[in-house]
Amino acid sequence: MAESLSLPMRNDKEEIYRALLPQIKAVIGGSDDLIANLANVAAILKQAFDFHWVGFYRALSSDNLVLGPFQGPLACVTIPFGKGVCGMSAGEQRTIVVPDVDKFQGHIACSSLSKSEIVVPLVHNGETKLVLDIDSDVLNDFDTIDQTYLEQIIRLIQLQNFPDEG
Ligand code: SME
Repeated sequence: MAESLSLPMRNDKEEIYRALLPQIKAVIGGSDDLIANLANVAAILKQAFDFHWVGFYRALSSDNLVLGPFQGPLACVTIPFGKGVCGMSAGEQRTIVVPDVDKFQGHIACSSLSKSEIVVPLVHNGETKLVLDIDSDVLNDFDTIDQTYLEQIIRLIQLQNFPDEG
């Protein structure tokens, strides 16, 4: 298993995501432990893009998300389903891109430096298991390229750690 990340020279977002996918697959393929894999995926995304905050919230009950592995400043521990961007993504089972968090009604501000956000859910057998949440300190930092590749990363985690879903 690779111990260090290999990143392209060019600072092109899509190129970076393309380089990350096989490395993420190799790293998480080495462990069946969900927490270990979420921790490494958070670290890889933080290192590759230096996002303000990148991490996971897990659905440990049918009504709350609980903070999981992350990289960045201190974060809120519990988010009810339906609340904030994470709760909405978990409840509606779809990726949500927020170009300006101040314009998103109900946004939960864990850090005043967060300006834009993307949340991608992992849905297994119809149930939301967790969400990947990324905050940027730059407005409008996420687009369909991020959505496409982050959804592929979530799919890799699903295949590795929730294996009965084909
Ligand atoms: N902003 C998120 C809360 C989590 S933090 O950003 C880490 C939300 O509105 O759900």
